Amino acid sequence: MTHSANPIPPHSGKLLVLTPGMGAVATTFIAGVEAIRQGNAQPVGSVSQLQTIRLGHRSENRNPLIRDFVPLAPLSDLAFAGWDVYPDDAYDAAARAQVLNPQDLSPLADFLHTVKPMKAAFDPAYVKRLDGPNVKPMKGKRELAEALRQDIRDAMAKAGASRAVMVWCGSTEIYLRPAACHESIESFEAGLDANDPAIAPSQLYAYAAIMEGVPYANGAPNLSADSPALEQLAIERGVPVAGKDFKTGQTLMKTILAPGFKARMLAISGWFSTNILGNRDGEILDDPDSFKAKEVTKSGVLDTILQPELYPHLYKDLYHKVRINYYPPRGDAKEGWDNIDIRGWLDYPMQIKVDFLCRDSILAAPIVLDLALFLDLASRSGRKGIQEWLSFYFKSPHTEPGHVQEHDLFIQHVRMKNTLRVMAGERPVTHLDEHEE
Ligand SMILES: NC(=O)c1ccc[n+]([C@@H]2O[C@H](COP(=O)([O-])OP(=O)(O)OC[C@H]3O[C@@H](n4cnc5c(N)ncnc54)[C@H](O)[C@@H]3O)[C@@H](O)[C@H]2O)c1
Repeated sequence: MTHSANPIPPHSGKLLVLTPGMGAVATTFIAGVEAIRQGNAQPVGSVSQLQTIRLGHRSENRNPLIRDFVPLAPLSDLAFAGWDVYPDDAYDAAARAQVLNPQDLSPLADFLHTVKPMKAAFDPAYVKRLDGPNVKPMKGKRELAEALRQDIRDAMAKAGASRAVMVWCGSTEIYLRPAACHESIESFEAGLDANDPAIAPSQLYAYAAIMEGVPYANGAPNLSADSPALEQLAIERGVPVAGKDFKTGQTLMKTILAPGFKARMLAISGWFSTNILGNRDGEILDDPDSFKAKEVTKSGVLDTILQPELYPHLYKDLYHKVRINYYPPRGDAKEGWDNIDIRGWLDYPMQIKVDFLCRDSILAAPIVLDLALFLDLASRSGRKGIQEWLSFYFKSPHTEPGHVQEHDLFIQHVRMKNTLRVMAGERPVTHLDEHEE
């Protein structure tokens, strides 16, 4: 049985995926899409490409692939463009990032060499350990924002794309609190004219995207589209936005494990998380101001999952500590350790050790793909403003003012699939008794 919903306009033409930042994550994403298109790889880790969606009762056996159920843009119709502070094209940047092996990159070389970064809107005051030459000459924030808007139009014309989406894959900027200029569209625009230091480059990209009607997702912990000013602008311009900070390694594990402990009413006394990583992201996070932004998005997760206010005996005194250590020999192959001190019956203590030898960009790349495709779908479905249903992909989900962030991966997953069902006119799945109507 279906609910009435307006049919989602079908995809046609090219969809341009714009990435501010063409480093490890962005190039692993672009290279991966091309390898899949060449028939040499599978989109492992991508919900949009591999996952099925159950429709109706389980006994009906209707389980189409999500990509067949909703009209997503096919990988063959994706085009890519981006900006970076360094002039390396996507092949050279991918080779430098050393995420993918040279033998996997070489069949993609011709294509990757064609993806060259546009000049970045960049200011080293916001990312202290970075300084490259491929930067726009102008200094005024209004002028920079207008130049980014022009870049979007030019890149779409060059790609022959009728639609675009933007996913921030740039570095983590220093921690910024919302300021007066973030309160309304008018104050933000006045801030652009006055070069307000509270407006960081990532906000210029978000502003430019929204002004151009381009959906925007923020893969880093920066304050970018998550201010009343840009939220209002997104509603006004009819643009969906989502964020922030891709949920990949350790936080993914945390939001898988913590809901399980809570479901079993096991107490947690302490959760110590530490990481070693040696890529450029790790180097930037070695700066205390950038780490602060990351620490904030990583730390909030447990409280909302465990609800210590409802379960004080189990979780009120939980000691949660997160550390990131820059350790160059590891490159992109991060190691995340967790020591979890839990308690069981009669408060008897136990310990769990998790040692995740992960690959950061391998985990992040399919998230970029899914966000690009789902935000484009959301836009075609007439959705605008904050897309909470995409919380599944983020460490610190961008939520409507007054809403509590949902961090539990399983609740996020159910919500995402139910949103897709409802978008396409199907009934949400409640997992109640199958014999019910
Ligand atoms: N890899 C993961 O698992 C993961 C998870 C969550 C979040 N992230 C975030 O994703 C982002 C990208 O990660 P990465 O590993 O690709 O980092 P990276 O350092 O390899 O790439 C980031 C790129 O952004 C560029 N850049 C910085 N400021 C820019 C600006 N204003 N305009 C244009 N380009 C700019 C840098 O020059 C760099 O090439 C980081 O912010 C990181 O914290 C990554």
